[in-house]
Amino acid sequence: MRAHTAVIPAAGMGTRFLPATKAVPKELLPIIDTPALQLILDEAAGAGIDHVVIVTSHAKPAIEAYFTPAPNVVAKLRSTGRGHLADAIERVGRDLRISFAYQDDPKGLGHAVNCARQLVGDEPFAVMLPDELMGSSDLLAQLVDVCDTTGGSAVGLMQVPPAEVSAYGVVHPAGEVDAEGVVRIQTMVEKPAAADAPSDLIIIGRYVLTPDVFDRLDQVRPGAGGEIQLTDALRMQAADSPFHGVLRPIQRHDTGNPLGWLTAVVDLALDDERFGEAFREWLRSRI
Ligand code: G1P
Repeated sequence: MRAHTAVIPAAGMGTRFLPATKAVPKELLPIIDTPALQLILDEAAGAGIDHVVIVTSHAKPAIEAYFTPAPNVVAKLRSTGRGHLADAIERVGRDLRISFAYQDDPKGLGHAVNCARQLVGDEPFAVMLPDELMGSSDLLAQLVDVCDTTGGSAVGLMQVPPAEVSAYGVVHPAGEVDAEGVVRIQTMVEKPAAADAPSDLIIIGRYVLTPDVFDRLDQVRPGAGGEIQLTDALRMQAADSPFHGVLRPIQRHDTGNPLGWLTAVVDLALDDERFGEAFREWLRSRI
């Protein structure tokens, strides 16, 4: 069965974006004029996902407010000739079924994913970390395919300089990456010391997982940083089932920190058909 549900963990406090995140959830910070979360939803829809479970916290009511229909705003836009914008606002949450689960206690990524268990059910599902923009739906679509054809979980991979691996989950590949970018994974470890890292291939924020991961998560004890780590449950899967990584060229941005957010905005603005050219000209003169 192909994954058609995606879980988006979005309960974090966004401390790296304070004071903005005191009132606005980090997932709603704009990339130009579109909330980062909307770009993640568009990516999901492009990979064939039709149901999204957002794991949020009761301290972030604005996330749910984003999905509340706004007929007055839409009517106002239509009556003033801004139908294009009205269409965009009506589209929010319409192409995808959106469900909410709550993680009011930040116990880690593995714990967040486990909070979505009832809403996912007994079928493969995607996990999308909303701090990371991937530029297109291609990686997620390929992960859905790999999970479907192998019957095992699959994760997105990226090669980084060895000095950077200790901030991530790091995989131990079982062989060479094939022509499609797929590689079998033997095991993996969360945030290893650089000297202990099994490779320079890190897990990036896109996963397609078989549902047995929930039983494994129930067994995971606090790991790196004292948190329930998703990587620890995935290592259990890899020990007795096929487990693959996908390494492909992508335009990834980590919008979870101010510099990464800024580069994402600049990168997307340069390609924006509305004002990319004007922005490029200004940027040239500025630097
Ligand atoms: C999480 C995962 C880690 C992964 C990373 C990708 O870490 O635990 O395995 O490599 O996302 O961004 P976090 O960024 O939450 O520390």
